[in-house]
Amino acid sequence: MFEEQGMTTDAVLKRLQSLLEPDSSYASGRPVASMSTAPHGFGVDVFSRTIEKNAGRFHTFPGSAEVEREVVEMVGDLFHLEQPLGTTTSGGTESNILAMLACRETAAKKTHTPEIIAPETVHASVDKAAWILGAKLVKTRVDSQFSADPSAIERAINKKTVGIFATAGTTYLGQIDPIDEIAGIASRHSIPFHVDAAFGGFVIPFLNDLGMGHHVFDFQIEGVTSISVDPHKMGLAPIPSGCVLFRSERQLESVTRRVPYLRGQSAVQHTLLGTRPAGSILAAWAVMKQMGRKGYRDLVSLCMKRTLLVKSRVEANRMLRLAIEPVMNIVGVECKELSLEHVTDRMEERGWRMATSPLPPSIRIVIMPHMTEGTVNAFFNDLDDISTTIPAD
Ligand SMILES: Cc1ncc(COP(=O)(O)O)c(C=O)c1O
Repeated sequence: MFEEQGMTTDAVLKRLQSLLEPDSSYASGRPVASMSTAPHGFGVDVFSRTIEKNAGRFHTFPGSAEVEREVVEMVGDLFHLEQPLGTTTSGGTESNILAMLACRETAAKKTHTPEIIAPETVHASVDKAAWILGAKLVKTRVDSQFSADPSAIERAINKKTVGIFATAGTTYLGQIDPIDEIAGIASRHSIPFHVDAAFGGFVIPFLNDLGMGHHVFDFQIEGVTSISVDPHKMGLAPIPSGCVLFRSERQLESVTRRVPYLRGQSAVQHTLLGTRPAGSILAAWAVMKQMGRKGYRDLVSLCMKRTLLVKSRVEANRMLRLAIEPVMNIVGVECKELSLEHVTDRMEERGWRMATSPLPPSIRIVIMPHMTEGTVNAFFNDLDDISTTIPAD
């Protein structure tokens, strides 16, 4: 109902509190499959102090435009792009839509029925992007480790193919597709290649620094033409915060529209959105500046330590099995002889906020910073209890 007379502040707050009662919180540790977490306090502070600023009006807020340029530059530096080109976005979905648009617009082959090839583990936003952009999404098989099969991608290429997508840090299992091999195929066929590193982009470089991996997935690989990453996931920035980077000016231009009634910097927009918060861009900048590489390295190290605890707890329960050896702080847990639905329902009844993956059917655990050692142990105590009391299928 839209009140005729406005309510008092107290009444509004009381009503709001009661409406928000069912919400979970990261502080409770209960969301065990979230790719976001409690944002860094400094980011929250900067965001709340700059809330009026509009990144769709950079002519009015040119200082914010400069900060956005620095965010793109910092992320570009992280991903070895010499001349960073790109834009901040509202998150992984918008970034994937823009990346696919750039593929469609810059592909050497012109067709009225464009096709995008992606492994079947690609995030749902890639389906959404294809739907919006009138492209057919051709999904290819993955191997026994749920990693893209490059030869299946090559076989799917035809004269309508305008782009290839792959993931560095899949949503389901945190797997990294063989970016190098896929980039080679994309290069040979002159097809744009987008790497979705929405989650992995703020994890993989630091795993490499820690000696916990040697994964090259970025612009060091010639055939990679665009990369997306979300500071609002492992970057600890407040929502909304995404970023998409392009290797060439032509790609950035292909997603750029002029807005004739606006002036100067406001008249050139690279995003799907017009009006959008500048405060979250400033907050992401502040968090990245304060954390530095060392801060993120320490964060990834902490999350990986807890990931090893998750792994050991799975291995200690004979009803459970790891879907793959964890690559990063995402773990898929298969239930042997138990109904996944039953297990997740019982866990939800105990207050956990669960999620499952379809490929393979598994419980999805994302070991974000709010999942402390105590939370992990409490979660597995419940899971052990439930998995031994539910009758087997
Ligand atoms: C790999 C990947 N890409 C894209 C997205 C979409 O991100 P957002 O929800 O921020 O739009 C996600 C979200 O989980 C993801 O894991």
